[in-house]
Amino acid sequence: MIEVKTIGVVGAGQMGRGIAQVAAMSGYQVKLQDLNRDILAEALEFITEQLHKGVKKGKWEGPFVVETLSRIQADMLKDPLAECDLVIEAATENKDLKFKIFKELDQIVKKDALLASNTSSISITEIAAQTSRPSQVAGMHFMNPVPIMKLVEGIKGLQTSNETFEAVRSVAEKMGKVWISVKDVPGFAINRILLPMINEAIFALYEGVASAEDIDTALKLGTNQPMGPLTLADFVGLDTCLAILEVLHEGYGDPKYRPCPLLKQYVAAGRLGYKTGHGFHNYK
Ligand code: CAA
Repeated sequence: MIEVKTIGVVGAGQMGRGIAQVAAMSGYQVKLQDLNRDILAEALEFITEQLHKGVKKGKWEGPFVVETLSRIQADMLKDPLAECDLVIEAATENKDLKFKIFKELDQIVKKDALLASNTSSISITEIAAQTSRPSQVAGMHFMNPVPIMKLVEGIKGLQTSNETFEAVRSVAEKMGKVWISVKDVPGFAINRILLPMINEAIFALYEGVASAEDIDTALKLGTNQPMGPLTLADFVGLDTCLAILEVLHEGYGDPKYRPCPLLKQYVAAGRLGYKTGHGFHNYK
């Protein structure tokens, strides 16, 4: 089995940049790839800022920041991914896009390299089937914000080998994460449970049960959640929430997963939550 020393991350959005940061902090060489130059630059700036904040908070010292940053190479091209032992895809939650990326990665990476997807709901079996190495493909579902959240949901596709699953599990554990093993079913475990709660909160808002502020306060103070479900939806991204609900709805064929019309409307209007400055709450 391949020894993982260099990790590629495809996609430098909020998940990809977090995975790249944590991988580099854990001693891995990191190749971060994104087609968008501005997103890559923003990601490097964000990681640098997060690392410097850690120094101010006394979590680590200056030299650790320099060493960590020196391990991250950012590129718009996928060529540097050829050097990776494991590539983690963290692109937008869109099946066709992910299929295309995995087809490309299969051509680029070494024969014995492993591939993982950070998908929050799409079938790992189907993603793996886009490659000539389905036994070397697994799901590694990180939580947002990646540097803070302790969990990684591990998903074994139908053809994922035990060796691959153990290898990606040990990478997640070296990153300081707690691993759970979950079946390859729509939404896996976390989003099958989390998204219906978020969707129900959106229906409550849609039906005028209470204001967005009061719905969030209810769950925050009434059930000790760190943030209310509407704030959490803004934080995850409303487009991502909708994409996950559509996978659940289609995958299970059960109307209980139908996305609330208000969520669809917000996404259509480009109100995607925190990243656009406006979702159920205003962040401008
Ligand atoms: N990136 C990195 N670090 C961040 C961050 C970010 N975007 N936002 C906050 N932090 C860090 C802060 O620097 C701080 O670090 P220290 O403890 O070392 O000082 C820590 O998080 C706590 O931050 P704050 O005190 O400012 O704020 P908080 O107490 O409100 O905590 C939070 C912020 C940790 C995000 C908390 O609100 C929380 O746990 N929210 C829920 C997060 C959650 O449920 N995530 C899962 C989303 S679902 C998902 O990701 C899966 C999916 O497929 C949809």
